[in-house]
Amino acid sequence: MKTIKVAPSILSADFAILGKEIDLILESGADWIHVDVMDGHFVPNLTIGAPVVKSLREYTDAVLDVHLMIENPEKYVEDFAASGANYITFHIEATEKPRELVEKIQSLGVKAGVTLKPDTKIDSILPLLNIIDLVLVMTVNPGFSGQSFMEEPISKIKTLNEEMSRQGLDFEIEVDGGINDKTRVPCIKAGATVLVAGNFVFKNNYREAIQKLKEPV
Ligand code: DX5
Ligand code: ZN
Repeated sequence: MKTIKVAPSILSADFAILGKEIDLILESGADWIHVDVMDGHFVPNLTIGAPVVKSLREYTDAVLDVHLMIENPEKYVEDFAASGANYITFHIEATEKPRELVEKIQSLGVKAGVTLKPDTKIDSILPLLNIIDLVLVMTVNPGFSGQSFMEEPISKIKTLNEEMSRQGLDFEIEVDGGINDKTRVPCIKAGATVLVAGNFVFKNNYREAIQKLKEPV
């Protein structure tokens, strides 16, 4: 089994002291920094964009895991790549040409991920598994932090893990939404390798929360 990586979502951080928040989560054992980008169209909320990724890149060498919840992702991936993103993940519904978009992201020297909302069927991404670097399985509807975990998507994590072994592939399976010390367990057992956590990290003692998420199951 791969070691579990924890990616705190800065959406739950205090943006007025973002650098300090980054220092604290990295000192507390965070592996990646999850950046939620929302455009007010693909999801009802608005958050942050490439300039924040650029500032983060200048501030830290940590992996910047950019989760795009936006329409027309093909229009923006160059900006995010130039800003220093390490992973760029888009929602499968947001593009008509997912294969081309994966190839474009990778050609910019960035790892490419594809995201499934809780009610998105896995079939839509099966043809991409042999080229992508990451699949993000959402366990809440995208748009807001602090929502309750949904169990149904766990079966998709299991299927993805089985397909990875069956086809001899290697990609990260990331889970996002309502992750805490309890909900992480079935996700890890099903094959998740990266845990995104917003509220569970930022509303608790950072070190204790991150260490709890990384405990073996
Ligand atoms: C939801 C975002 C998540 C969210 C996670 O649209 O993609 O990354 O911020 O926050 P929690 O862990 O609080 O559900
Ligand atoms: Zn996210």
